[in-house]
Amino acid sequence: MPPISTSAPGVRQAAFRFRCISCGDLSDTARQDFRCVQCSDLLEITYPRWKEASPDPVELKSTWRNRRLSHHAIDLSGVWRFRDLLPAIEMDEQAITLREGNTPLYELPQCARITGVPRLFAKHQGLNPTGSFKDAGMTVAATFARLAGFRWVACASTGNTSASMAAYAARGGMRSLVLVPEGKISWSKLSQALDYGAVTCQLRTDFDGCLRLLQELVLRAPVYQLNSINPFRLEGQKTLALELLEQLDWQPPDHIIVPGGNLGNSSAIGKALLEMRDLGLISHLSKLSVIQAEGANALVRTLREAAGKRLISVQAETRATAIRIGNPASWKKAVHVLEATGGACEEVTEVEIAQAKAEIGAEGIGCEPASAVSLAGLTKLLKREFVKQDESVVLVLTGSLLKDPDFTMDFHRGDLFKGTADEAASARLNALRRPPIVLDATLDAVIRTLEQAEK
Ligand code: F0G
Repeated sequence: MPPISTSAPGVRQAAFRFRCISCGDLSDTARQDFRCVQCSDLLEITYPRWKEASPDPVELKSTWRNRRLSHHAIDLSGVWRFRDLLPAIEMDEQAITLREGNTPLYELPQCARITGVPRLFAKHQGLNPTGSFKDAGMTVAATFARLAGFRWVACASTGNTSASMAAYAARGGMRSLVLVPEGKISWSKLSQALDYGAVTCQLRTDFDGCLRLLQELVLRAPVYQLNSINPFRLEGQKTLALELLEQLDWQPPDHIIVPGGNLGNSSAIGKALLEMRDLGLISHLSKLSVIQAEGANALVRTLREAAGKRLISVQAETRATAIRIGNPASWKKAVHVLEATGGACEEVTEVEIAQAKAEIGAEGIGCEPASAVSLAGLTKLLKREFVKQDESVVLVLTGSLLKDPDFTMDFHRGDLFKGTADEAASARLNALRRPPIVLDATLDAVIRTLEQAEK
């Protein structure tokens, strides 16, 4: 089957262009693998018109505020509400939206006490329609897939991308093909893809193997690739930062801390911060820091051992399966935004991830393990004195607690680290465990349990 171009009539291509992040080559169309035709590196989206007539920041802020009073689907989306900074579509009805975005910014009073950082917040992207931050990017990329005339969309995934893609494809009347590593993603995420009608393939490889195969597939078959290599995804994910800054009255927090896997999200947030600064929406940048699991620490090693100049891949292993990625596609983009914003990169252990997840759960918020690396990372960054206690910090929580119930149950039952090298180190987490209690159905038994818990 011949490859199909990703440009199409009906899309105002002039409003944006593709630019190679390495050689700077500019183009109006992109190949299906979204790689530069000159040098094969990744593409990003740029807006040449901003140079000629930069949008007025005061007008933008007021437009975005006013749209919150509207009942149009496109305005009810917390992504398309910011469409002035996104690739343009001709008609509002073209957007495939599940009213994504609009996620809360929570204070974390207990974690603030534990860490000693009073101004500590969580931007909870797990409260998106399919339970993860992926929806913000997917609404934009799926929209452009349909505009380009594709019937099929596809992704490689550790679970959340596939859940999100399957939902948006279904809403947009497209078919979806999911490639996931067999036995390495949570049932919760897999079941979402099935329910939303995806053709779901569990491949006997890891995420990196799935992504390699997908990159070849999209050059051979007319399927549109929806991984975060797709720059439309990152444009949508920028809105996390736009919405966050709006919630903070356009006062940038000192630090934004985000988990890193394939490194699309950190790249998107960083791009948004730089664009907001350049457009005069904010006066200065927040430092954007990326946290990885110790067993999937490609970016940490790339910065530490190769000064960010070449990727050091790893054989990834972590119970935070969403970020079990050893060969992150967007590593160059992430290095760029870390350097441009002055952020740091850290790694955290499995025990630290479990502790942070339980602490966020105890706030009545909860998140999936991959999200909790942000809080675990904050503790590390405080120790290094990269973050000071009087600074303001926003943690990006990327996925819902309900995304990985097995992890949570294993933790509270005390099974998470049983028989592993971390068993001894995890003993200190016992106070955080709340295992379910099986009782005879008597009032006495329940009252005794209540009294016991009160002690
Ligand atoms: N947190 C969660 C919950 C994720 O699902 C992911 C990535 C990340 C963090 C890391 O974000 O890749 O942009 O650096 N999940 C992808 C997936 C890879 O397939 O669902 P990233």
